[in-house]
Amino acid sequence: MNTFVFSARPYEIPFLLKASPHHAFSFTHQKLTADTVGWAAGHKAVALFTADDASSAMIEKLYASGVKYIALRSAGFDHVDLEKCKALGIHVANVPAYSPYSVAEHAATLLMVLNRKIIEGRRLMLAHDFRLDTLLGFDIHGKTVGIIGTGTIGMSFARIMHGFGARLIGTDPVQNPDAQSVDLTYVSMEELFRSSDIISIHCPLNEHTRYLIAKQQLDQMKPTCILINTARGGIVCTEDLLSALENGRLGGACLDVYEKEKTIFFEDHRDTPDRDELFERLMANPNVMITGHQGFLTREALSGIAATTVKTLDYWDVGKKSPTELY
Ligand code: NAI
Repeated sequence: MNTFVFSARPYEIPFLLKASPHHAFSFTHQKLTADTVGWAAGHKAVALFTADDASSAMIEKLYASGVKYIALRSAGFDHVDLEKCKALGIHVANVPAYSPYSVAEHAATLLMVLNRKIIEGRRLMLAHDFRLDTLLGFDIHGKTVGIIGTGTIGMSFARIMHGFGARLIGTDPVQNPDAQSVDLTYVSMEELFRSSDIISIHCPLNEHTRYLIAKQQLDQMKPTCILINTARGGIVCTEDLLSALENGRLGGACLDVYEKEKTIFFEDHRDTPDRDELFERLMANPNVMITGHQGFLTREALSGIAATTVKTLDYWDVGKKSPTELY
C-alpha cells in the first residue's frame, strides 16, 4: 500500500524498510501540520507518530486528498481525533504493544540517575573533584513504589522494581492478574499518593487522566516522593509540579514527557530564540531528570513498531480489518 510516513527519523526508517520490502513508503522527517498535510495527496495511507497533528482539521484535509487509512506508529492515540476519523470512515490502527521493556527500563533509568546523582557525579569527576558530599542517594530496596496504570508498561516497571526489592502498590480501574506475581497490592489513588516513596505513571492520557496529578494530589504525596512520568505530559500539571518541587513539597521528578512537548521535542531548537518558560524551569531544577520522549527508543521497540505497522498495512492492502484497529 502506498503510504506517506510523517515524522520519519533516520533511526526508524531502516526498521520500516526492513520490515516491508513490499509497501511503497514515502518519507518525510517533517511533522504532519497544516503546511505539510498536502504532501500525502495520492497516498492511500499515512503513518503518524505522536508529535503529528491529527486534529479534526488535518483529518479532513487528509481525507480530501484520498487518505483512507492511518497507521499510528505509537501506542498512545491521544493526538488523533478518532471521532472525526470514524465519521469519515477512515481506518485507524495503533501499535498497542511493542517492547514494554523499552519504556519501563527508561523509567527505571531516570529514577536511578536522579536518585544516585549520576549527572552531578559525572560533572564532579570530570572536574577531578572526587568528593562525595553532594551525592547521597537512597536504596530502592524496601521502599514503596506506587504504579498508576498497571497495564503492559506499568507491569513491566513493577517487575523491575520487584527485582530491586521494593514493596509494590498500584491503582487501575482494571486489575491485572499478573500483579500477584510481584506481590502488587491494589489501593485507592489517595492511599497510593500518601504511602508511596516513588510514584510512576503508566496510564493513557484521556479526558479522565488529564491533570490527574495537580496541586491537590501533589499535596498528598510525601515531601521526599519521586514522581516518574514516562506516559504523557498532559497527565501532570507542570506548573503545580514545579511549585511542589520549588517549595520542597516533592523530592524529585523523572520525566520523559512534557505537556507542551509537541512544539519542542524531536527537533533541533538550538537556534530557536523563544524558549518555553515552564520547560526551562523544569530543565533548570536540580531535582528534575528529564529526557525528550525517548522511552521507546530501543532497537527492539523500533523493530516491533515497524513489524506491527507493516502487518496493519498488509491487512488493509487486501481489504481486511487489522486486529490493531482502534474501533
Ligand atoms: P496499556 O493499555 O497496556 O496500560 C494502560 C493501563 O492504564 C491500563 O491497564 C488501563 O486500565 C490503565 N488506566 C486507564 N485509566 C487509568 C486511570 N485513570 N488510572 C489508573 N490507571 C488507568 O498501555 P501501555 O502499553 O502500558 O502504555 C501506557 C502509556 O505509556 C501509553 O498510553 C502511552 O501514553 C505511554 N507510552 C510512552 C512511551 C514513551 O516513549 N515515553 C512509549 C509508549 C507508551
